[in-house]
Amino acid sequence: MYLSKSDIKNTERVKRLNIINSVSGIKPGNLIGTRSSADQANLAIISSVVHLGSSPAYLGFIIRPSNEVRRHTLENILENGCFTINHIQTNFIEKAHYTSAKFDAEVSEFEACGLTEEQLYGFRAPFVGESTLKMGLKHVESVDIKSSGTQMIVGQIEHLIIPDEAMDERGYIDLAAANTAGISGLNSYYGLEKLQDFPYARVTEVPKFNV
Ligand SMILES: Cc1cc2nc3c(=O)[nH]c(=O)nc-3n(C[C@H](O)[C@H](O)[C@H](O)COP(=O)(O)O)c2cc1C
Repeated sequence: MYLSKSDIKNTERVKRLNIINSVSGIKPGNLIGTRSSADQANLAIISSVVHLGSSPAYLGFIIRPSNEVRRHTLENILENGCFTINHIQTNFIEKAHYTSAKFDAEVSEFEACGLTEEQLYGFRAPFVGESTLKMGLKHVESVDIKSSGTQMIVGQIEHLIIPDEAMDERGYIDLAAANTAGISGLNSYYGLEKLQDFPYARVTEVPKFNV
C-alpha cells in the first residue's frame, strides 16, 4: 500500500490516527505518576518518552495540551514540578492501558485501574508499585512544538530504580529480562525479545557486508 499526503488527509479520522500513531515503530510503554496540590495522585499511560541527555540525565515526553479536556498530568507537573516514569511490564498491560480513560480529577487511576501507589525517597510524585524499573524526575523545561500544538516536558532524573538481574556490569539493561512492554499505536502491546548486542560502531571496525 502507498499513501500520499492527500491520501493521508482524506483517510477517515480514526483510521488515520491508528495508521500514523503506528508508523514511528515500537514506542516505550510508560506510566507517568503525578500529584496535584490537593494531594490527588494521578497516573497516565504515555508512549512518547525519549532520552535527551545522560549528563545531566534528562528524559522528555510529548503531551498535547487541550482546551476541551483537562490534562491532569500536565497540570500537576506545572503545580508541583515533578513526576515519575514507570516502565509498563507485560504482567500489567491491561491495567496500564485503562489509565488512558478520561477520569475526573478527583479519581485516582491507581485505584480505578488496580495499581499500587508507592511513595519512595520522600519524592512528592507517586511511583507504581508493580513496576520494577522506574524513576523520579524534576521538571526542568517545557518546550512548545508549534507545528503540532504539542509540548515536550523535560525532566531530570533524581531517583532511578533498576532490577539488579536486568543490568550487567557495563550498565547494559536487558529490557526483555525486565519484561518491559512496547506499544504500537494506541492499542497494541508487545513483549520484547533481545536479539543481539553490538560494539560501539567505529569506521575502522565495520564488518565487510556483501551488497
Ligand atoms: C498507548 C497509549 C499511549 C499514549 N501516549 C500518550 C502520549 O505520549 N502523550 C499524551 O499526551 N497522551 C498519550 N496518551 C493519552 C493519555 O494516556 C490520556 O490522554 C490520558 O487521559 C491522560 O491522562 P491525564 O488527563 O490524567 O493526564 C496515550 C494513550 C494510550 C492508550
